[in-house]
Amino acid sequence: MSEKENQRKPGMSRRRFLTYTIASTGGFLASGVLFPMIRFAVDPLLQKGTDTKFVDVGPVDEFGESPKKVEFRIHRKDGWYQKEGGEKATAWVLKEGSKILALSPICKHLGCTVKWEGGGFQDQFYCPCHGGLYTKDGVNVPGTPPNAPLDTYAYKVEGGRLLLGPLETRGGGA
Ligand code: FES
Repeated sequence: MSEKENQRKPGMSRRRFLTYTIASTGGFLASGVLFPMIRFAVDPLLQKGTDTKFVDVGPVDEFGESPKKVEFRIHRKDGWYQKEGGEKATAWVLKEGSKILALSPICKHLGCTVKWEGGGFQDQFYCPCHGGLYTKDGVNVPGTPPNAPLDTYAYKVEGGRLLLGPLETRGGGA
């Protein structure tokens, strides 16, 4: 056995020890910097749905069996974006007994705006773009272009006031 081999100590070499130490220290420091950055970047995506607040649209007694148009502003945050002053929104609201229905005016065919009893159609919502029709509760009429009911706004009643929240899609349709 040579003298050089005799001098070699068992276990890890100094070079390998330094390499591991530097690599693990660098990795630790990098994760401390990168993790908050990644968390900040993807945080809005981790939120469930969009953050839409409920908006007061008036005394609940003002609404009845005939759909009434209300305009309001919703403050919604989509990811990182929130429009200053909120977005303008419209709902057709009707109340039958204790049940309230707040319908979106956006046609489910290609997105035009429906109007209550428009185009001379009694007791129906009418879409002027392609002649779409919906019943009073927003269900699409078979034989017309839309293939799904109008979306509805979530709602709640607080202190005699009607508050509208996020839009919800209804299933079904004719
Ligand atoms: S967009 Fe309403 S019927 Fe086509």
